[in-house]
Amino acid sequence: MEKEHSGMVVCPLTPVIGAEIKNIDLGGSLGQISVELIREVLHRYQVIFFRGQDITVEAQKDLGELFGELVAHPNDPGLEGHPEVMIIHADESSKRIAGEQWHTDVSCTHEPPMGSILRIFQVPECGGDTLFSSMYAAYDGLSEVMKEFLDGLTAIHDGAPYYTSVNLKIGRDDGGKEYPKAEHPVIRTHPETGRRGIFVNEIFTTHIVGLKKSESDLVLGFLFDHVRKPEFQCRFHWEKDSIAFWDNRCTQHLAMWDYWPEVRSGYRVTVRGDKPF
Ligand code: SIN
Repeated sequence: MEKEHSGMVVCPLTPVIGAEIKNIDLGGSLGQISVELIREVLHRYQVIFFRGQDITVEAQKDLGELFGELVAHPNDPGLEGHPEVMIIHADESSKRIAGEQWHTDVSCTHEPPMGSILRIFQVPECGGDTLFSSMYAAYDGLSEVMKEFLDGLTAIHDGAPYYTSVNLKIGRDDGGKEYPKAEHPVIRTHPETGRRGIFVNEIFTTHIVGLKKSESDLVLGFLFDHVRKPEFQCRFHWEKDSIAFWDNRCTQHLAMWDYWPEVRSGYRVTVRGDKPF
């Protein structure tokens, strides 16, 4: 159902997660009311989408900065002259793409990003969708006994296994670089909505603190399967100059690489977050 707010039209993709905001120009200067409305819709739907946004890199950075400080990626050099802009690109020669498994961006840092804003400006003829899953819905879908068990637990999120495997795959010498590693609650509370959500993901979470390896593997395996249930998801089909803005504190996403050897290209900016609790 479409809803109009100060000229913007909000069209939910599902009742659980995802909404498209129409009738807005993200390249122009957004007033305080528009920013507050975008924030409100993001809090309600967790990931929001915009179409037809042919904006410059500078405008995309300005957009991100309305929501917080931008941060550079720990394993990606970024666009020349713009280290905080991550290049998302795949073509015939690619050996991998960013985000092929369900994940929360850079959860291995002590203060994982609050959100990411991705603009795709070259799309394949078909395919190349991104899937998003609501970690609120995934948490709400657990039994009370399981919630109680998970509530007091923390887990280790380690950047090294994933980033070294990426660098090996693309032949990038990381010069023995150290990658971020952090301990976070398995269930986190969103600092703005107060809702609880699952905060472990298969790219970065290596084990649950205090459990034996076999126990931790079992619980994490269950959670990794659980968070990808279709009823917690929406799926976004990109057009040229679509933008997605996801809240990293309550979602996971997966980029679908079903379009090889075609090209898909875009830029992502990432907004600083705070320590999960
Ligand atoms: C990512 O930021 O994980 C990539 C998402 C995408 O390319 O759709």
